[in-house]
Amino acid sequence: MTKVIVTGAGGYVGIPLCQTLLQKGYEVVALDRYFFGEDKLSGILKHPALTVVKDDIRYCNTSIFKDVEAVFDLAGLSNDASAEIDVELTKSINYRGSERFAKAAKEGGVKRYIYASSASVYGAGSKEALKETDSLAPQTEYAKSKVAIEQVLTSLKSDTFSPVMLRNATIFGLAPRMRFDLAINIMTMRAWKERVVYIMGGGEQWRPFVHVNDVVAAFVLMLESPLEKVHGEVFNVGSSDLNFQIKQLAQFVVDVVPNVKIHVIPDDPDKRTYNVSFDKIQKTLGYSTKIQVHEGIVEIKQALEKGVLNPDDPTCYTLQWYKSLLSWEQRIKNLSYDGKIL
Ligand SMILES: NC(=O)c1ccc[n+]([C@@H]2O[C@H](COP(=O)([O-])OP(=O)(O)OC[C@H]3O[C@@H](n4cnc5c(N)ncnc54)[C@H](O)[C@@H]3O)[C@@H](O)[C@H]2O)c1
Repeated sequence: MTKVIVTGAGGYVGIPLCQTLLQKGYEVVALDRYFFGEDKLSGILKHPALTVVKDDIRYCNTSIFKDVEAVFDLAGLSNDASAEIDVELTKSINYRGSERFAKAAKEGGVKRYIYASSASVYGAGSKEALKETDSLAPQTEYAKSKVAIEQVLTSLKSDTFSPVMLRNATIFGLAPRMRFDLAINIMTMRAWKERVVYIMGGGEQWRPFVHVNDVVAAFVLMLESPLEKVHGEVFNVGSSDLNFQIKQLAQFVVDVVPNVKIHVIPDDPDKRTYNVSFDKIQKTLGYSTKIQVHEGIVEIKQALEKGVLNPDDPTCYTLQWYKSLLSWEQRIKNLSYDGKIL
């Protein structure tokens, strides 16, 4: 059985990735701090080929790489806002933590290292249909950390170590650790719950989108493709026909969720706008996405209707959840007496 490590295994992408890898017969080591709760893994927790490792990419024992064929590196602060809470913390996790983990993987004999980068490395894109070779303009600490780790991985490339970097579009769709801080997901939830869709920043800005299951398929493809096709390569992950302006997304949501008002808010501190080409992954590996935006909106709406998705679950709001963990850490420190609360 081929053994792989997934870091960030308790996350929005990590859980469906582990599920798919297990279904395909891989042995999976699921490493994560499980900041959003280990219970989210409940669907696969008893799988005999799954090992759950509750650890931190910054400090974990490097003996975990024994007999590991490939690593999927997804761990870290996963959006712009969370990465701005404390820049030093972001540097310790998204920069130094990821760098440490990748170097240790190489030293530990891992052959393939598949890294979750982001299309946000293009930042305020200078032109349409941005390709992997176009210049990068990261706007935030989060995007800068992705660029930095891509550079580290490129420098680690060798005859025995093959890094692959996936610049994922903004993801949408239903998953066990749901994220309501992603554009399509939050628009759908607000439309369903509050009968309103907010368009931030005027709505003219372009973004590429991709369903979470299509992202999982891309990750698995990087593991199963011939090494020479992916060795040291960067791929945009998404589909050229899933580049949309934010105002178009609002219309998609309104088409699925009835009786909803659209509010346009002209200002948004987030100035990112980018329209991306996905030709390389299509032409090199035959990859194409399968799931359309409206299908993602429908599945989220149905999950909300059935009550299987709770819009008030605080773990669905990445920034607010990290902030509340930090605030509880402080409160517990202040209240502790002799190492205990009570
Ligand atoms: N969701 C998107 O739209 C999107 C788009 C492009 C790229 N990405 C990237 O894909 C990856 C996965 O994203 P996601 O949406 O699943 O995010 P997520 O926040 O749901 O998952 C990240 C996971 O990393 C874990 N983690 C954080 N710090 C850790 C540490 N120090 N040690 C161990 N585990 C730690 C968290 O507990 C969490 O489970 C991230 O690297 C993200 O930047 C996501």
